[in-house]
Amino acid sequence: MKGLQDKVVLITGAGSGLGRESATELAGEGSRIAVMDMNLEGALETVALITKAGGDAFAVQGDVADGASVQSMVATVLDHFGTIDILVNNAGVVGELKPVHEVSEESWDFVMGVDMKGVFLCSKYVIPTMLAKGKGVIINIASVSGFLASATGVEYTSAKHGVTGLTKQLAYDYGHLGIRSIAIGPGVIETPLTKDWTCEGGPFHELTMDAPAGRYGRPIDVARLVCFLASDEADFMHGHTIPIDGGSIIR
Ligand SMILES: NC(=O)c1ccc[n+]([C@@H]2O[C@H](COP(=O)([O-])OP(=O)(O)OC[C@H]3O[C@@H](n4cnc5c(N)ncnc54)[C@H](O)[C@@H]3O)[C@@H](O)[C@H]2O)c1
Repeated sequence: MKGLQDKVVLITGAGSGLGRESATELAGEGSRIAVMDMNLEGALETVALITKAGGDAFAVQGDVADGASVQSMVATVLDHFGTIDILVNNAGVVGELKPVHEVSEESWDFVMGVDMKGVFLCSKYVIPTMLAKGKGVIINIASVSGFLASATGVEYTSAKHGVTGLTKQLAYDYGHLGIRSIAIGPGVIETPLTKDWTCEGGPFHELTMDAPAGRYGRPIDVARLVCFLASDEADFMHGHTIPIDGGSIIR
């Protein structure tokens, strides 16, 4: 796709699932990848997959919910690649999947910290590099839980609604300065995060199977959209959250 060759991409949570698939797809388009994850082992596995296929990647460990860790991680990427062209805020966790009055404050803080504050922190510390060049793309992985309430629970639903708002604000603040921000709202995709959900009787089984596509999503479905949105071909797309859900939320 146009505009991905030799671009430097920082992807958070790229040691597993959607982040790993997006990292390998972007590397296949010629981008150089900083594979960031809290789980160094997972990040190194992703790097091995990319380098085995002839791509350029390195692993960086950090916690997106911690400002000092994000600052040091961004500095490491800048030392290694010299710049950051594309930021994919993908790292995410789910909470306790309980009704509001049963959710602990710890779970609220944990999920909001990773899923929402993490997007704020990584954007905050990468944006100066993009501003200096007058160019950049920020892609946030939200969820269909950024559009509606569901069995994913209050912490996740609130955080992902927050990410859709944060994406609009990023577009509002920086679109005219050359930084394009956009989000993706996946339905249920088969990854380690959802391994207990994607079975008969799981919390989203009916919603998924009754939808037009009638199947769970695959990481590649999302990774191809990440590539398109990161490319110059999506140049007119700003601030929205694009659902990719097999049609599960059309009604
Ligand atoms: N899989 C789905 O059905 C689905 C649907 C909608 C949205 N999403 C979103 O997609 C993103 C990726 O999910 P996935 O399904 O690939 O999950 P996953 O669990 O397979 O991968 C998430 C990765 O994030 C990393 N991570 C967690 N906390 C971190 C932190 N504080 N700092 C750095 N890295 C951290 C984990 O180590 C893991 O490697 C998440 O934001 C998730 O909310 C997933």
